[in-house]
Amino acid sequence: MWNALLAFLFIYIHSMMKTVVITGSSKGFGLAMGKEFLNQGYHVAFSGSNAQNLNRAISSITFDGEKVASVLCDVRNCGDLQNLWDMIFKKWGRIDLWINNAGVAQKTEKLWHSSTVDVKNIFDTNLLGAFCGTQVAVNGMLKQGFGKVYNTVGFGSTGMTRTGLNLYGTSKHAVAHFTKAFANELKGAGIIVGTLQPGMMVTDFVNAADGSIYNKSEVQNIYNILGDLPDAPAKYLVKKMIHNNTNGKLLTWLSSSKVIFRFMKHLFVKRDLFKSDAHQK
Ligand SMILES: NC(=O)c1ccc[n+]([C@@H]2O[C@H](COP(=O)([O-])OP(=O)(O)OC[C@H]3O[C@@H](n4cnc5c(N)ncnc54)[C@H](OP(=O)(O)O)[C@@H]3O)[C@@H](O)[C@H]2O)c1
Repeated sequence: MWNALLAFLFIYIHSMMKTVVITGSSKGFGLAMGKEFLNQGYHVAFSGSNAQNLNRAISSITFDGEKVASVLCDVRNCGDLQNLWDMIFKKWGRIDLWINNAGVAQKTEKLWHSSTVDVKNIFDTNLLGAFCGTQVAVNGMLKQGFGKVYNTVGFGSTGMTRTGLNLYGTSKHAVAHFTKAFANELKGAGIIVGTLQPGMMVTDFVNAADGSIYNKSEVQNIYNILGDLPDAPAKYLVKKMIHNNTNGKLLTWLSSSKVIFRFMKHLFVKRDLFKSDAHQK
């Protein structure tokens, strides 16, 4: 009798715990957000397309076994995203937040040099992956009756263009557009869809892009002025996501006032984010 009651209480308490699913959370910004959600008491599902990266991520965090799940999910495959929803919903019985964060950088080159393989990989990961992830999460959340979906955008989402980065920029511009469209179409449905703008972060994304302008000193200079390791934007944006109750909201880390402040601070304090190995954590 007592055992049954305790088992019931255990299941009840766990079913009341808030949960978050983050695609592309085996490294960088996604991993940093996952760690911050754990600090905030959430159950966190980490995922990525590479088993080695995912295992390394899980072994880098300290957690109570019940609070973390790890699921291999290649966002280029919509079936993987549906499987991610189904597995986590079955495990924890609810998904409060879903973040489409998986993304790849582009080789820095002019558009007419881009190979079909690169074009397909960037659009399949950054655009199709985020679109299918949003569809899967919105459909699941409409059935459960609540939830929030956020899509990570980056360079290009505001319409800015730059030689060599336009393929990536096109993908993120499209993500910003469809996220806004989902939010409009979901008005009154009780589901929140929003955009995350984490600014400029020194992660594998910028650090390891072979042959990219990111390896050149002028790009490192601008990252050293305006950029961050992913932990600070993650900490800030996780709190914003948890507290935001407005549909269609853009949550931004690197505001215009922060940009001005950082340019002024740079006159007196120099940083070298590229020397740190923290981005590999
Ligand atoms: N770094 C920046 O300055 C910056 C600025 C603005 C926005 N962003 C955006 O922030 C997000 C995270 O970037 P990051 O800087 O943290 O880069 P990162 O360290 O390279 O992390 C990218 C994550 O996406 C995953 N991923 C890549 N391809 C995938 C696929 N096909 N399926 C599932 N997961 C995949 C990676 O894991 P696996 O490789 O193991 O699959 C990894 O977990 C991206 O959407 C990026 O566009 C970055």
